[in-house]
Amino acid sequence: MKNNFSDLIDQTYYFPQEGFDLRNGYLHFHGVSIKHLIEEHGTPFKLIYLPKIGDQIKRANNWFKKAMKKNSYKGNYQYCYCTKCCHFQHVISEALSHGTHLETSSSFDIDLILKLYEEGKVSKSTILVHNGYKTEDYLQKIIQLNKMGFKNSIAVLDNMRELDRLNKMTRKSIKIGLRMATDLQPQSDYYTSRLGIRPSELLKFYKKEIAPKKKLKLKMLHFFVDSGIKDTLYYWEEFQKGLNMFVELKKACPELKALNIGGGFPIRNNLGFEYDYAYMADEIVRNIKEICTNEGIEEPDLFTEFGKYTVGESGASKSSTWRAGASSSPFLPLHLPPSQPSPS
Ligand SMILES: Cc1ncc(COP(=O)(O)O)c(C=O)c1O
Repeated sequence: MKNNFSDLIDQTYYFPQEGFDLRNGYLHFHGVSIKHLIEEHGTPFKLIYLPKIGDQIKRANNWFKKAMKKNSYKGNYQYCYCTKCCHFQHVISEALSHGTHLETSSSFDIDLILKLYEEGKVSKSTILVHNGYKTEDYLQKIIQLNKMGFKNSIAVLDNMRELDRLNKMTRKSIKIGLRMATDLQPQSDYYTSRLGIRPSELLKFYKKEIAPKKKLKLKMLHFFVDSGIKDTLYYWEEFQKGLNMFVELKKACPELKALNIGGGFPIRNNLGFEYDYAYMADEIVRNIKEICTNEGIEEPDLFTEFGKYTVGESGASKSSTWRAGASSSPFLPLHLPPSQPSPS
């Protein structure tokens, strides 16, 4: 009777799967021999196979652009990389080399951006979406970017108090966004997310506090459904609320140009993973198109901020110590064609 673990895998899943291969009984990851790495560097280690990052970005660009073409959608698709997902220089640089823009969450991210700017990897036209709670330091650095001439830096207000603080810090015209709070899944501890402004208050807030201040240019509405982009009733209900909010705001503020649906594309974290990315991208675009046509408004540029989708499938780790470490660093950025497994 066959009762090895590998037999169970064979009976339950299709294996090897994309990216994984067995050659002479040894596991290869995107053509790189894991045995070779273990022998050369020892364990534990973590590797990042950089070409996979570019593949992921290209795939998402294709799905959304195809969906836009199919639905005669007039806005653009903008892929932002969510830096907090992995801050390593080689990861962010790789994402940028595939034409992504960036989403930031803290003042440290702005330091990274300034460094990348010095290296010529970020330009003053790169779109920088500043999400997250705005500490004094974070706000100061966002203002600094604006003063330096980063013309697509957008400060997304996470709550209403941030407006006053931002307003007092600058006299220069500045692009802003608003984050709409979503309702959380019924099983969570809170009902409405503490991140973002409640939909019931958002339009009033815009009309009373933002519209009269001419230097504040509202460019983006952002919402993020925490549990990810899933083909569930819950996701589509939250998504629809976001679209309705966009329509209301757009009618009050014609210069609002962007709808940012955050991150949330899932990744293959088990062998039974199934997800139809192209279908989801198409449904997202089709729904936005439909509501804009019905309401007679211009389609927004569509932004996503995929974090784990961008990097999650490019990494692997070997946790147990198999051989006394020969490697000076546990992190092995791989930027090699698969036929050259040595990462040095
Ligand atoms: C505002 C925002 N955007 C994007 C992301 C990235 O999400 P994911 O890694 O699921 O794509 C997060 C994650 O928490 C987030 O809070």
